[in-house]
Amino acid sequence: MKFFVDTAEIDEIKALLETGLLNGVTTNPSLIAKSGRNILEVLKEICALVPGPVSGEVTTTVAADMIAEGKKLAEIADNLVVKLPLTFDGIKACYALSQEGIKTNVTLCFSSAQALLAAKAGATYISPFVGRLDDIAQDGMGLIADICQVYSMYPDIHTEVLVASIRNPIHLMEAAKMGADVATIPPKVIHQLFKHPLTDAGLEAFMKDVASTKQSIL
Ligand code: G3P
Repeated sequence: MKFFVDTAEIDEIKALLETGLLNGVTTNPSLIAKSGRNILEVLKEICALVPGPVSGEVTTTVAADMIAEGKKLAEIADNLVVKLPLTFDGIKACYALSQEGIKTNVTLCFSSAQALLAAKAGATYISPFVGRLDDIAQDGMGLIADICQVYSMYPDIHTEVLVASIRNPIHLMEAAKMGADVATIPPKVIHQLFKHPLTDAGLEAFMKDVASTKQSIL
């Protein structure tokens, strides 16, 4: 399973790159706004830092403008993926950009029917939002299961399931059990993945015991 981090914060990306766990980055307009950075500048910086795919989202809702923005975004770097909303215009833009060999990530997906449209339009990634469905008492992980099942029925579908709006480690591990291709994870949740009380307790005991020997390796 590929791990992307869902952030536009350069320091967080740099820290995670050092773990070798990071396969890519996703951003959205809210994350860019939170960073306080210029859209094109921050995406260029992230693309140069990260060897894997970096999603940058369009800022308009009209297909012709999305296509123009998508082309401009794609000029930033070979690893830039154009993120488009799952609307009629977004799917039109996805199809047009895909035809030109530009990688796309169709976002704001909340149903398996929408996921099928994105796949048919040639999307590189589909981003179903699990947390936001759970927030309104709908089954976020059920959507991932449905999309994985539908896509698996058609060998000509190459769109990767990119699980988004992940809020906790359970979302991630349920998605992994379903065989989802990618998870985009907030930095906070990535750090939660490392944690286990028995790891902390075990390490504390080992450190205490090694100190009692008055030895060190270096
Ligand atoms: O970037 C898309 C998605 O991961 C956003 O998540 O937490 O704002 O619902 P969230």
